[in-house]
Amino acid sequence: MCGIVGYNGTMQAAPILLEGLEKLEYRGYDSSGLAIRDGAKDIEIVKAKGRLRVLAEKTDEGMALAGNCGIGHTRWATHGEPSETNAHPHVSEDRNVVGVHNGIIENYQELKEKLQRHDYTFYSETDTEIAIKLIDYYMKKYREGPVDSIARAMTRIRGSYALVVMFKDYPDEIYCARKDSPLIVGVTEDASFAASDVPAILKYTRNVYYIGNQQIARLGKGTAEFFDIDREAVEIEPSEIKWDAEAAEKGGFEHFMIKEIHEQPAAVRDTIGSLVQDGKIVYGESGLTDEIIRNTSEILIVACGSAYHVGLAAQYVFEGLARIPVRVELASEFRYRNPILNQNDLVVVISQSGETADSLAALRLAKESGIRTLGIINVVGSSIAREADHVFYTLAGPEIAVATTKAYSAQLIVAYALAIQYAYVRGQIDEDRYTAMIAEIQTLPAKMERVLDDKERIQWFAAKYSNAKDMFFIGRGIDYAISMEGSLKMKEISYVHSEAYAAGELKHGTISLVENGTLVVGVCTQNRLFEKTRSNMVEVKSRGAYLMGLTSYGNYSIEDTADFTVYVPKTDEYFMTSLAIIPLQLLGYYLSVARGLNVDKPRNLAKSVTVE
Ligand code: M6R
Repeated sequence: MCGIVGYNGTMQAAPILLEGLEKLEYRGYDSSGLAIRDGAKDIEIVKAKGRLRVLAEKTDEGMALAGNCGIGHTRWATHGEPSETNAHPHVSEDRNVVGVHNGIIENYQELKEKLQRHDYTFYSETDTEIAIKLIDYYMKKYREGPVDSIARAMTRIRGSYALVVMFKDYPDEIYCARKDSPLIVGVTEDASFAASDVPAILKYTRNVYYIGNQQIARLGKGTAEFFDIDREAVEIEPSEIKWDAEAAEKGGFEHFMIKEIHEQPAAVRDTIGSLVQDGKIVYGESGLTDEIIRNTSEILIVACGSAYHVGLAAQYVFEGLARIPVRVELASEFRYRNPILNQNDLVVVISQSGETADSLAALRLAKESGIRTLGIINVVGSSIAREADHVFYTLAGPEIAVATTKAYSAQLIVAYALAIQYAYVRGQIDEDRYTAMIAEIQTLPAKMERVLDDKERIQWFAAKYSNAKDMFFIGRGIDYAISMEGSLKMKEISYVHSEAYAAGELKHGTISLVENGTLVVGVCTQNRLFEKTRSNMVEVKSRGAYLMGLTSYGNYSIEDTADFTVYVPKTDEYFMTSLAIIPLQLLGYYLSVARGLNVDKPRNLAKSVTVE
């Protein structure tokens, strides 16, 4: 996720772009850049590492760059660490094409090799530079104009992109193209704008054009024309934005958390896109190899909070599929326990921020003991990402709400992919099962969207029980791991005392806490364990509990026991966490809203815990 702004008009472009980028900083903030042109003069490019403020200061709030046409970008790194070199805009060697990009180009390696065969060289680690040079390549090869060259590049690029591009020989125009990444266009009497999101241009216009998937736009000074990938002109009707500026920043949602809950299918889709190519799991730039996988004797997953809960779910998947022993450890405990580590162990550290102090210390402890480490990280260039021997990135984009949702979901995907790969390479599953499981993972984003469609029922339930004082989440196996995360969501944003219990443990103590009206959520997504957990639900019901059941479609007999039931689509049971967690995130969210709490910034909590 990155933020893009383009301006072509009669005013000075740089201050307008900086102001627009500031409104998009929630989309990325590790580096930024501007490309400004003054008529036919050469395009000036300025980039800076760090927050947007650094770029603003470097350009004297934009006053140092003269010109009334330009593009700007604020970056959230996916390919290549945050640096001035990797910051956008990117440019072809002769500065014929200059552009900014948001999205992930999946076949960047293949495209890079193609361009290298035609003597292109590369200065950055980004997939964006490849896209820009591909457009340049087609422009020179076919001697056609911008729309044709962009369209040709689009037919070769796989993945998602929002591209905003300027061409040396077309000084009064900006070009845009998009597929599966947001990009809007706004037009006033004498100017046109492009942006990743509405807040960037709301000051200038409320009438926006949503560029369709695989469409191209040509922006003049106060004009916009649209084309499809076959280069045919298309008509797009403008839409009026009715949100105020604050709502616009959250895409019309009331809070970042609910926005991020809705971004989960996209985060999962992007993460799958980075891990799966031609139906196979790829190691990418992680440096992991089949040999390392074959030689691993034990996996230790070390993390904190929700990332630890990903580890708990992953343990079932790894052990079940790959038949390799897995230990899951709280990083804050692991580092002080003098843990027993063996030479062929693999220590997997999961972290959204990549900066959590305990997780970082655990990673260092493993490294000092000479143990191989692997990070599953959301922030490119963060400390854990830099120090781990191998890194797989989650492509969730920046997460603003303190309660994690989309990063958690993206972490699960990396864990599934690694477990499947371990199982396959170690001969525990055959090629058919391997292919089928990868195909099933790819169905998850659509299934997650179906779960989200049912959110009103959970909103109603949460409003009804907003006065709850104690809550229990129970489940067995993977359902226990789901319960742990559901319970944490409830505690951290709704301040409801809540506990997750392995359903079979209830009668060893906890059941004495259940009394009339106690809210209990029974998670039953695993067929083998369904009847067992259901009997535990009956036990708490007979002691007065009010029961919410969470299971998959088809298991309708749960209604004989539960007072309120939520169903999620069926998937391979190893991947159920990805679907079943969404109703529990929604439950925590709506309960917090109903109690009038600060959902995005709950008391006493920070997004990144960089102290012990
Ligand atoms: O950045 P990390 O993933 O390392 O953070 C770990 C935990 O602090 C984090 O998951 C925390 O539990 C969240 N607030 C949960 O929503």
